[in-house]
Amino acid sequence: MREPPFIVGRPVTGEYFVDREDELRRLQTLVKGIQKGASSNSALIGLRRTGKTSILENLEILLKPNAKLIPVIANCYGIAAKSRLAKVLVDKTIESYVCKTGDSAFLKRITKAIGQAAKSAIGRISEVKFAEFSLKLQDKNTEEDSLIEEALQYIEALAQEKDVFFVVMLDEFQDVIRWGDDTLKRIRSVVQSQKRVCYVLAGSATSIMRNLVYDRRSPFYRQLVEIPIKKLDKSIATAFLKRRFECAEMEVADSVIAKIATLSDGYPDYMQRLGLELYLLIGQGCMIAEDQVDKAYEDMVVSLDGEFDNYFRNFSPLEREILVALATGSIQPSEVARAVRKPIFNISKTLTTLMNYSIIEKPMKGQYRITDPVFADWLNRRFRAFTQE
Ligand SMILES: Nc1ncnc2c1ncn2[C@@H]1O[C@H](COP(=O)(O)OP(=O)(O)O)[C@@H](O)[C@H]1O
Ligand SMILES: [Mg+2]
Repeated sequence: MREPPFIVGRPVTGEYFVDREDELRRLQTLVKGIQKGASSNSALIGLRRTGKTSILENLEILLKPNAKLIPVIANCYGIAAKSRLAKVLVDKTIESYVCKTGDSAFLKRITKAIGQAAKSAIGRISEVKFAEFSLKLQDKNTEEDSLIEEALQYIEALAQEKDVFFVVMLDEFQDVIRWGDDTLKRIRSVVQSQKRVCYVLAGSATSIMRNLVYDRRSPFYRQLVEIPIKKLDKSIATAFLKRRFECAEMEVADSVIAKIATLSDGYPDYMQRLGLELYLLIGQGCMIAEDQVDKAYEDMVVSLDGEFDNYFRNFSPLEREILVALATGSIQPSEVARAVRKPIFNISKTLTTLMNYSIIEKPMKGQYRITDPVFADWLNRRFRAFTQE
């Protein structure tokens, strides 16, 4: 049996990856500048499931031929402590450096360096600094913010010593923004002075990420180039679906393809999920009928149950109530307020928070809806009333 024509649940590359040439070209140009002292840091901003992490992985692949430019991808999602982020940054940098250069002797020396720090029996700056960093990390008295600074400075020191350059990609950067402006300012001041490291900050809380770039009060104001990641054009999604089904020798009418594209609403994630469900439902070399798309959609929503459930639980009680109200038919703030049995005044702040994190959007003035249509659908199925209210 051949491999499935669609991939779900992890970033995609190669034949499974479509479009985004422009975004990748721009990113590549921005980061390559670092070798000539002319790089810009960038912000990759797009909703969840639009393919940001996939773009980062594809950038990593595109940079492969460039021996001196080393991509480092660190995921900030759910990192609770700044010390943890600091450790992840240094770890990932060393890992990426060793992988790209094959300098495994460095790895050995650095591991040895930890125990020898006090005796200062080691010579190279990168080893001394690593040993110092490890000690600070263990010391409960070290200030958390300064650990992030140390980590970032370490990356520059390593780059200098080894005559390489690093492209540090911080995925899910909204979780770092949560720590507030003081932390961001300290990150900014290190980043600003670096000559051998550039940054790509990716995030899905689109308003918050845009504020990071455009708000005058933001520590990163005028320091980042925005690369917006939109949903896929319908024509691109359609062509991709066609091509992938052809690979599996499945016969699919244009109307069926159009239906899949509509249900996925431009989200590459849902496009791949629906494609895979159909492939699993029908199999290699068969024909897809239109009503089978409905069945595949049902299966997809069921398969996302655990994920959506976890996601939903992470909201506050009021946020959850508001989301349920929006999913089950309330649109205007007054309707939402009535459904959650609170004065409008008491929900407006929460609506703003949900907007800032791009969980909900305002398609028109005075109207709200949940941004992700499949999540909205899942909520609706779970909470819609059997009896009319
Ligand atoms: N350019 C693309 N072409 C095809 N499928 C994609 C593309 N980008 C993402 N996907 C699909 O969407 C899913 C989510 O992508 P991911 O990069 O993790 O999104 P994000 O990081 O924005 O949440 C992937 O598992 C893959 O199935
Ligand atoms: Mg991602």
